[in-house]
Amino acid sequence: MEREKRKLDHIEFALKTGQQHNSGLEDISFIHQSLPGISLNNVTLTAEIGELELSSPIFINAMTGGGGAETEKLNGDLAIAARETKIAMAVGSQMAAIKDPAQQASFKVVRQENPDGVLIGNLGGEATVDQAKRASDMIQANALQIHINTIQELTMPEGDRDFAGTLSRIEKITSSIGIPVIVKEVGFGMSKETVDQLLSVGVSIIDVGGFGGTNFAKIENERRAKVLGYFNEWGIPTAASIVEAVKVSPELSVIGSGGIRNSLEITKCLALGARGVGLAGHFLKLHKELGLVQLIKEITYIHEDIKIIMTALGCRNIGELRKSKMIISGNTYHWLTQRGID
Ligand code: FNR
Repeated sequence: MEREKRKLDHIEFALKTGQQHNSGLEDISFIHQSLPGISLNNVTLTAEIGELELSSPIFINAMTGGGGAETEKLNGDLAIAARETKIAMAVGSQMAAIKDPAQQASFKVVRQENPDGVLIGNLGGEATVDQAKRASDMIQANALQIHINTIQELTMPEGDRDFAGTLSRIEKITSSIGIPVIVKEVGFGMSKETVDQLLSVGVSIIDVGGFGGTNFAKIENERRAKVLGYFNEWGIPTAASIVEAVKVSPELSVIGSGGIRNSLEITKCLALGARGVGLAGHFLKLHKELGLVQLIKEITYIHEDIKIIMTALGCRNIGELRKSKMIISGNTYHWLTQRGID
């Protein structure tokens, strides 16, 4: 019950706190090309994230964990939106449903609503191989996200305090689960050092989950009496984190996420080298304020708009977009310079 309440609190406080607007993507400018030389009709959005072949680079990122009618309804709606727009969808943490099978209905609904779609399971870094297999079976997952959320746990009064052994658990799951594993942050970003550690244990897909959007330090601070305000501004902004991660190795598929709200930000993430882009808080807000039908429309518009921007840049596909030229200014420029990344 305590966990279920916490999950509902997360949705409520995520909506109340909103997304910040400092992902660093505001520091990225495309260079206008007057002669793009291509036709909009020839632009495709197909994406490859590791072994996952997708018709769109965008996906609904992990949100709703825990049981209860409210989360079941939200998960069902998000799965319908994913089905109708042919985008992938990650569910929120399935740990509650592994510990209490009565809560599984709120996850199984996503496969019922979207039988042929790409669905991604989700567990935390404390998960065992057996739990990972059960989470994947629960929704017949095409991939599994493992979230690492140290700052969120430290900010939660009831959160974990022991972070030993996470890397070795991730290694065991990655080598034995039989589906692609995506290791993700939850809004604090990943450094090149973290990405390097993950790569060294066989992880080949990471989601930077950067700073600048939904802020779990602020959300948890809303819920607790003793505020850990120093974590409110803690984290690596999404733009810098994507570049840090992409430079680690060409073997790695990097997903950009954290604060993404529109087609231009998505296109910038892809141009920085991300293979896919996850949106959580923005889709939650659209669903809450405008409902399912409008959410589906909005995702359709985002697809159309990414294609329009790619046409302006003369890029027929995401591979070409990755080669487009950009100017990086402001904090992101300083961040990358001081980190020795050009
Ligand atoms: C999340 N997020 C999340 N992530 C995860 O891996 N497991 C989870 O259970 C949850 N739960 C969750 C609930 C709610 C209400 C929100 C808004 C988010 C984090 C999410 O996937 C993402 O990493 C961050 O929200 C940052 O991205 P946005 O929201 O700025 O697009």
